Amino acid sequence: MAAALAGTHAHWSSRFAFIMAAVGSAVGLGNLWRFPFMTGQNGGSAFVLIYIGCVILFALPVLMAELAIGRHAQQSAITSTRKMAIEAGKSGKWSVVGWVCTAAGFLVLTTYSVIAGQVMAFSAAGFAGGFAEPDGATMFYNTDGIKMFWHFLFMTLTILIVSRGLKGGIERVATILMPLFFVVLIGLTIYSMTNGAAGAAVSYLFTPDFSAVTGQTFIAALGQAFFSVSVASAIMITYGSYLPRDSNIGSSAVLIVSADTMVALIAGLMIFPIVFLVGMDPAAGLGLIFTALPQVFSTMPAGNIIGGAFFALAFIAALTSSISLLEATVAFIEENASFGRAMTACLLGGFAFMIGAGAVYSEAFAGGFVDVLSGQILLPLGGFLVAVFAGWVIPKSLMRTELSHASSGLFAFFHFAVRYIVPVAIGAILVLGLDDMFNDGRIGSMIGLG
Ligand code: PHE
Repeated sequence: MAAALAGTHAHWSSRFAFIMAAVGSAVGLGNLWRFPFMTGQNGGSAFVLIYIGCVILFALPVLMAELAIGRHAQQSAITSTRKMAIEAGKSGKWSVVGWVCTAAGFLVLTTYSVIAGQVMAFSAAGFAGGFAEPDGATMFYNTDGIKMFWHFLFMTLTILIVSRGLKGGIERVATILMPLFFVVLIGLTIYSMTNGAAGAAVSYLFTPDFSAVTGQTFIAALGQAFFSVSVASAIMITYGSYLPRDSNIGSSAVLIVSADTMVALIAGLMIFPIVFLVGMDPAAGLGLIFTALPQVFSTMPAGNIIGGAFFALAFIAALTSSISLLEATVAFIEENASFGRAMTACLLGGFAFMIGAGAVYSEAFAGGFVDVLSGQILLPLGGFLVAVFAGWVIPKSLMRTELSHASSGLFAFFHFAVRYIVPVAIGAILVLGLDDMFNDGRIGSMIGLG
């Protein structure tokens, strides 16, 4: 294959393959697990609105920037940012942009695999009849050893797929699983809306109530937007590097962001009718889908099948995301060392597995430290850096060449956003949000001071 020849970078085999892989990366536990509990904890509809604003104003332009940077430089995030900065006559130290993003993506992977393992266990439990009892799902997920087993299994699957490379691994999995994902998602949502408390869910998600909004709501929404669209984590630069020269980055970015947001909203319409049906607290936190949903499944006809299918859906979504998370770091090591792809995937996946193991033993580590650090600090910081890079470091004409298919309106919005909106807003949101977090003691307890 061409990729084996020195200096020739692998490419997607079609636009469809790229879109499926990129949407597969974006759509994941962020939509089915994180979005519902973040919405629940941050006051429902107000959070949803602010979230959508963050997606359009921040995540979309950063996504366009990342795809353009990757496509231009045809390398991993770190190498691409260094190469492009030098090409623009600036310091190669601008590769810090790539480094922060790569670190953020790697950190996300560590605990992502733990949650995905739990999702797999719950799916197996459902199909094995475990949802007959309210807490029956825990039959496959009750000791630390078992939790480690599922985490290990999920990470192994991720490593195996990434080892097989772009076409044989990532593309193949995404083009088969993503269409299946959409079919199951629609089916389950229709079921949930017709059998659950649809009215309560709709008003919870869409009737604005701004009483619960604080500085922290903005930082949470911003972090969630970046997390869900898979930006600021080196992935979209890497996936962009596999794009052929003539691809239309603007329209692809709009498509990816729209699909991801639709799935988050649909997931809300699938999950909250069930949560409200039994009067569960939507603000239950990290465990929302793992505690609320199984209780409801135990009372529903065919609850085992529906529950098993729900968690299988989340598993599919998680797998196409975790392979992108691992791919971003593998691509960088592959460029710089000669271990070969399979060995690199094993080493990095193994390392991520070990850090993630900390989350099996401590929910504070997973939910507090890793999730807050990666989701609410590193991702916004990475997005800030990408925007500054695309808006100030790289000449406008160069960005315009990469985004040549974009209409002049879209390009003007893009450039204004990466130059002013994103850096200024993220700067403000980070300061406000961090200030909130210090004030209410969250940072202190996160790093063991509280
Ligand atoms: N976007 C993925 C999700 O929503 C998670 C992810 C985050 C993937 C960051 C890549 C980078 O689940």
